[in-house]
Amino acid sequence: MIINKPPMGWNSWNTFGDNISEKMVCDMADKIVELGLRDVGYEYVVIDDCWSLLQRDENDRIVADPEKFPNGMRAVADYVHSKGLKFGMYSCAGTLTCAGFPGSFDCEFIDAETFADFGVDYLKYDFCNFPEGKDPQLYYNRMGMALKATGRDIVFSACNWGTHDSHKWIRSTGAHLYRSTGDIGERFNSVRNISLSQYDKLQYSAPGCYNDLDMLICGMDGIGNVGHPGLCGDIQYKTHFALWCMMGSPLMIGTDLRRVRPEILDLFKNPDLLRINSDSETRPPIIIESPSCSVACAMFKHLSDNQFALGFFNLADDPAVADFRPHDIGFPINSGFGLKLREVFTGETIEFLNDYHRVPLDTHDCKVYIGEYVEKN
Ligand code: GLA
Repeated sequence: MIINKPPMGWNSWNTFGDNISEKMVCDMADKIVELGLRDVGYEYVVIDDCWSLLQRDENDRIVADPEKFPNGMRAVADYVHSKGLKFGMYSCAGTLTCAGFPGSFDCEFIDAETFADFGVDYLKYDFCNFPEGKDPQLYYNRMGMALKATGRDIVFSACNWGTHDSHKWIRSTGAHLYRSTGDIGERFNSVRNISLSQYDKLQYSAPGCYNDLDMLICGMDGIGNVGHPGLCGDIQYKTHFALWCMMGSPLMIGTDLRRVRPEILDLFKNPDLLRINSDSETRPPIIIESPSCSVACAMFKHLSDNQFALGFFNLADDPAVADFRPHDIGFPINSGFGLKLREVFTGETIEFLNDYHRVPLDTHDCKVYIGEYVEKN
C-alpha cells in the first residue's frame, strides 16, 4: 500500500491519556464530520495507549478493556467507518507499552491479526520497554511484515522518537510515517525544540513515508494529558501548525473537538497550509537562519505548479526581525524575475523585487506566503 500524503486525523493521547472510552472516541468521530474536518482531509481516528486489559487472554490475544469499550473494538471501528473515517490503534515494539499495558514484542503476528480483526486501518507503534540488545530495525520490520501478512491495508505509524538514527532505516521496515522526536507538550519551548531538531532530518521525508513531528497541541488551552495552562495562546498554536505544514508532518489533532474554538478550527482548515503540508512533490524546505535574531528563520519550499511557500518564523522569546535576501536561497537579483507572494493568514500580497527584506515578527509569530515567480518589467 502506498499513501501519498502525510496522514491527517485525531489522536486521543494529548488530551485524554488513559481517560478513553467508546463514547468519547465516537463523539470525536461525530465531531470530525460535523465540524467539516473530514471534508478537508482529517480521516484517521486513533486510539492511543491504555485501551487494553493488563493481561493477554488464554490464547495470547490482547483484549480491549470492557469498561472503556463495552461493545468491543470492532463496534468502535464499525462506528468510525460508518462516518466515512478510518480507524487507528496503538501498540508498542517493547514488552509493555509506555503506560504499562501489553506490548507486541514477540507477539507481532498474533497482534497484527487482532488489529486486522478489529478493522484497524492505522497502527501507531511505540518503543517503550524494548529489550536491550535487540535490533529495533528488525523488530519494526517484523511488525511491518506482520501487518502486510494480514492482507488488510494498515498504515504503519512507527514511533521510536528518532532514536537509533531511525530516519536512516525506517523506510525499509514498511513504515508509512515515523516519529522523529520525543513527546510534545503544550509549551512553545517544546514546539521550538522539536522544530530545531528536524532541520538535519527533513531530507529523509518522501512520498510514501513521512517524518512525524508528533501530534498537534493547537487549541488545547491548557486542558488535558499534555496540557500546560497559560503557556500557549493563538500565536503559538498558529506558528506550531504552520511549522508542521512547512515541514510536511502528519497532522494529528490532539485537542477535545467537543470544545474546539472557531479560531482553532480555522487554523486546522487553512487551505493554503494544508496544501503546503500535503503538496504532491513532498519537498523539504530550505532553511535560512537569520543572523539578526537567535532563532528566527525563513523556510523556502518548492510546491507543485511552479509555486512555492516562503515562511518566516520567530522562534525567539522576544519580537524579532527575520532578514531575508532572495540570494540566501540562491535566487539572484538579476534573474529577471521577482517573487509575488500572498500571506496565508491575512491574504496580504507583496512583491519581492529587490535584494533585501526585513520581516518584523512578534514573539513566536510567523508569516507564511504562497508565491509565484513574476517577470520584472
Ligand atoms: C509515548 C509516545 C506518545 C504516547 C505515549 C503513550 O510516550 O511517544 O506519543 O503514545 O507513549 O503512553
